[in-house]
Formats: sequence, C-alpha cells, structure tokens
Amino acid sequence: MSDDDPIARFLDELYPYRAETETFRAIPEHGRPVEEVLAEVRSFARREDAIGDEGKVSGSLYCGDHDHYHVLTEVFESFAHVNVLQRDMYPSATKFEAEIIAMVADMLHGEAAGSDVCGVVTSGGSESLITALYTYREQAAKDRGITRPNVVMPTTAHVALDKGAHWLGIEMRHAPLTEAFVVDVDAMAALIDENTIAIVGSAGNYAHGLVDPIPELGRLALERGIGLHVDGCLGGFLLPWIEENGGDVPPWDFRVPGVTSISADTHKYGYALKGTSTLMYRTKALRAHQWFTYPDWPGGLYLSPGFAGSRSGGLIASTWASLVLTGREGYLAAAKQIHDAAQRMVVGIRDRMPQLAVIGDPIFLVAFRSDQVDVYLVNDELKRRGWRMNALQLPAALHFCVTRPNTAPELIDRFLDDLEASVAYAVAHAGQPAESGAMYGFSGTVEGNAAVEGLMGGYLDAMHDTAPPAA
Ligand SMILES: Cc1ncc(COP(=O)(O)O)c(C=O)c1O
Repeated sequence: MSDDDPIARFLDELYPYRAETETFRAIPEHGRPVEEVLAEVRSFARREDAIGDEGKVSGSLYCGDHDHYHVLTEVFESFAHVNVLQRDMYPSATKFEAEIIAMVADMLHGEAAGSDVCGVVTSGGSESLITALYTYREQAAKDRGITRPNVVMPTTAHVALDKGAHWLGIEMRHAPLTEAFVVDVDAMAALIDENTIAIVGSAGNYAHGLVDPIPELGRLALERGIGLHVDGCLGGFLLPWIEENGGDVPPWDFRVPGVTSISADTHKYGYALKGTSTLMYRTKALRAHQWFTYPDWPGGLYLSPGFAGSRSGGLIASTWASLVLTGREGYLAAAKQIHDAAQRMVVGIRDRMPQLAVIGDPIFLVAFRSDQVDVYLVNDELKRRGWRMNALQLPAALHFCVTRPNTAPELIDRFLDDLEASVAYAVAHAGQPAESGAMYGFSGTVEGNAAVEGLMGGYLDAMHDTAPPAA
C-alpha cells in the first residue's frame, strides 16, 4: 500500500491484484496453461465471494445460494456459445424467451389488462428503461409527430432514465417528492406539456425502495393520453410475492389502469444470473414501436427486437431455469423472509435509535436519514464492522436493501447492534469529516456535485485503463 500518496492508494484499491498477479497490457504470446488461469480466477472469486457470503451486503447479491448459481451455470454452459439470432439452429431459445415473458406477464397480472400483454428480455434494468424511452419516443413521433419529446419522472426514478434520455435526445423533467418521499403527482402534472411522451413511476425506487402513487399516475397518464412506465426493475420480482403473502403493497402493476409498460429484473429478485431483465408492455401495438426491421441491407433481411445484436443463449436459458427452478413456492418463501427481515430492521431502528428517521414505510429496502448525526459517519463505523450499506444523497441517507443472504433473524439483530454502536460513534465524532460519502455524488450537495463532476470522468478513466505498474 502506498500510504502517503492518495492517487497511488486509490489505484491500489482499484487494482488490488496488480502486486500479486501479472498485468496484461497485450495478449500474451503463448496461451497460459488452463490450470493456471483457473487457479487465478478461482482465487479472485473465492476472496470476493467471501464478502457477500457473510450476508452483510445491502442489495447486489439477491440470491446468495451457491447451489442455485451452480445449476444455473450448468444450464448456461449448455448454451453459452449460442447466438440467439440464429433461431433456426436454436429453437430452444425461442421457447425459453417466450416462456420467460409469459411467466412475467402472469406474475404482473397481465390478465387484468387483457390478453395483449407482451414483452421482451433485455440485458438488465438499464436496457429495459432506456428501451422503454425509445419505444415511447418512436410512438410519439409516429402517432403525434413529436420531434422535441420530454418525459416526466420523480427525482428518485433510476438515473439510467437520465442516461437514456441523454442518449436518445429526450428532455428529462424531474418532479419533486412529497414529505412521504414519493412523487408529488400535482408537481408531475404541472411538468407535462404537449411534447410529453410518457411519465414514470417506480415500484420501488432505488434510493428509498418506496412505491410511487401509481394509481394516481395512471389516472394522470390516461387523462393526458400519454404512456406510464413503471420501473419495477428492483421490486418487480418481489412485490407480487409479498402482496400474495398478505403484505401491504400499494397497487402498481398491470391491474392499475393507465400503466402501459413495466420493467422487472430477472437478475435481481428473479434470482437469475447477472445479465437479464424484462420489459413488459400492455399492448403489442406499443411494443411494435421497439422493433427494428431493415429489408434492404446487402447482408440480408434484418430484423432486431432491441438494442443488442448477438445475444448469448446461455443467459436466456439460465434465466428461464431460475424461474422454473424457484417456482411460485420458492419466490413466496424468499419474499416472506425478506419482508420479515426488513420489518424487523424498521422496528429495531424506530425503537432503539431516536437519532435516525426511517424514510417512508419500507417494504423490503430500509432507508434512513438523520437531523442529529452525520449518517456518513454512521456509515464509516458500519463499514469497519463489515457492513456494506448504500450511501445516498440529497438528502444524505443510508439504505439497506434486504436480499436473501441477509435474512437470518440473528444477522438482523447483529446489524441493529452494530447500527446502534455506529450511531454512538457518529455522536462521539460529530463535526469530524466522514471518510465515506454517497457513491453517486461523493459530497451530498448540488454545488459540491457540480465541483466533482470532472473527477467522476477521471474515475471512469481509471477503471478502464490498466493502472501504471505499481511503484
Ligand atoms: C429501481 C431500479 N431501476 C433500475 C435499475 C438499473 O438496473 P441495472 O443495474 O440492472 O441496469 C436499478 C438498479 O439497482 C434499480 O434499483
């Protein structure tokens, strides 16, 4: 470790293996022995998995069951090399994909919207969200002649939508929240104009896990004749089961009139391998705006459902396998554990830590802020105690997104003990600068964020350019 040089320390943290393994800056002349490569990769995986397997990580690892991963990987192996563009050679991909879509439509109560509910499989939540924006943009251009489109969404909607709007030339308008930390529907209504192509609500959002008032948004969308996308990337595979278990879940899916599309990630609470999500539409007519067809290419008649060209058959097969292996029973049982654990956390925080304010009424993700202590100092101490929280900003807050590896009641009790001790640390160290900040912003104020924007680009450079050799 290079203790006194902050840049060197930063690079050491970003590239921890460069001191012990070779850094490749060009393809090696001779292929490396299989055993050597496998041993190296396995050693990285073992060390990195140990962190998540302890169950002290918020979000990120939704399943945590290595037997499940193992079976999915076996399924993946059968089709890893397959390009699903070649459907004549690999009709199983058509079966798997169509059945994933049918199962998700059923889970999201597509029957309430009629038999036309349909969808696509994408590479992840961001692709689902960006594709939805694209579809609404195309629909509005063709049906309404809109050339300067805008979309209105809550400030808490996922930032991938801002990225997508940036890429697609859509103006993104951000509606503020109410005191309950869900979108202010009147404020949203005021932002809609004749160029608005769609509005967005979350179920639940990344920052606080809360569900926006989707029925009211649905009414607004119907009144204005525009689409409503519900981002269920995070909650889409969890809320239906919590509701079925009797939990208190506000309405958000296709049963709500006005909801025209929903994203739900298979690679989160669907317990599939990383790399898939679903984007569901109320009608095939809406989905058709997503299709790209080009009959005049010398390479042949070209048709493509979405952003990707070639896609691996392995991911589609293993996603299908995750759904049918887990089954309704498996999803219901996991949802019960997650919901119970989150409620235990909420009660513990409210009863034992008056310095903290839980944000809204959490269902599965527990976010809290404080007017009395610096929550980033709380996070510093939680980190030292082995917990990996998600730090938020605007306002400064922390969240723990409960997943299967976190659900053991004794683990939640340990978390509450450590949180209480971390609050005491923050009280004792009030006024001192915290080591940790909000990953999405470093600083926690709008002005501070403007100042660090340049540094964020540098961070991405550092992540993609092999670090210089260690001194
Ligand atoms: C609510 C929500 N939407 C979208 C995304 C983006 O998903 P992905 O990281 O799969 O692109 C996330 C990720 O956490 C999320 O929480």
